[in-house]
Amino acid sequence: CLPALFTGKRIMITAGPTREALDPVRYLSNHSSGKMGYALAHAAARMGAKVLLVSGPVNLPSPPGCERIMTDSALDMHQAVMQRVGEMDVFIGCAAVADYRPQQQAGQKIKKSQDKLTLTLVKNPDIVAEVASLANKPFTVGFAAETQDVAHYAKDKLARKKLDMIAANDVSKQNIGFNSEQNALSVYWPSGEALLPVSDKLTLAAQLLTLIEKQYKE
Ligand code: PMT
Repeated sequence: CLPALFTGKRIMITAGPTREALDPVRYLSNHSSGKMGYALAHAAARMGAKVLLVSGPVNLPSPPGCERIMTDSALDMHQAVMQRVGEMDVFIGCAAVADYRPQQQAGQKIKKSQDKLTLTLVKNPDIVAEVASLANKPFTVGFAAETQDVAHYAKDKLARKKLDMIAANDVSKQNIGFNSEQNALSVYWPSGEALLPVSDKLTLAAQLLTLIEKQYKE
């Protein structure tokens, strides 16, 4: 049983990877399974929030009590978020959004004719940074997936993207982070920090949401 900390509050959560199409059959993506973001959505709904889950392509059922919008690419996810974020009290960007997409998407399957193929990539919009820069922004929480200097890079993202809070995980470890049942988070906000040790993702989600509610109230 989780405390009803978010009764009457609307929370948008992004989860999962994005797919950046190269041609009709191939894409660039990453190892996100969606489990962390779906656990956050599930826990937030159990804590009384009205949850809108904006999901990348994953093989998970919609968590009980949540509204879900399925998206594919970073541009799709960006559009879905921007359409509804004005209604939200809290935004949590847990999706592993691709930073770049192929500049050109071939209309037909690319043929194996050349020995070398060069891809040109262009930057995707930074969804969480754009949400944090809105005039009527919700309390905005980002994630940071790092493989080294976790605290340093996370604090840099907190400041650079003007976030209210950031939850960092070390994705170089096998047992936590991407596509695992467990995770561990180092959480930073402008005036403090907390370490949430290794635990299953639903437990961590409830712990992170408790920290969010405390800072949001202040
Ligand atoms: O899905 P699982 O398998 O359970 O794994 C969980 C997770 C490791 C994916 C998750 O815990 C996590 O770390 N999510 C963030 C992954 C990520 O893209 O991190 P980043 O450091 O590259 O991005 C920083 C922040 O910017 C994130 O909040 C991200 O959602 C956001 N971002 C990034 C790029 C972009 N174009 N738009 C964004 O909004």
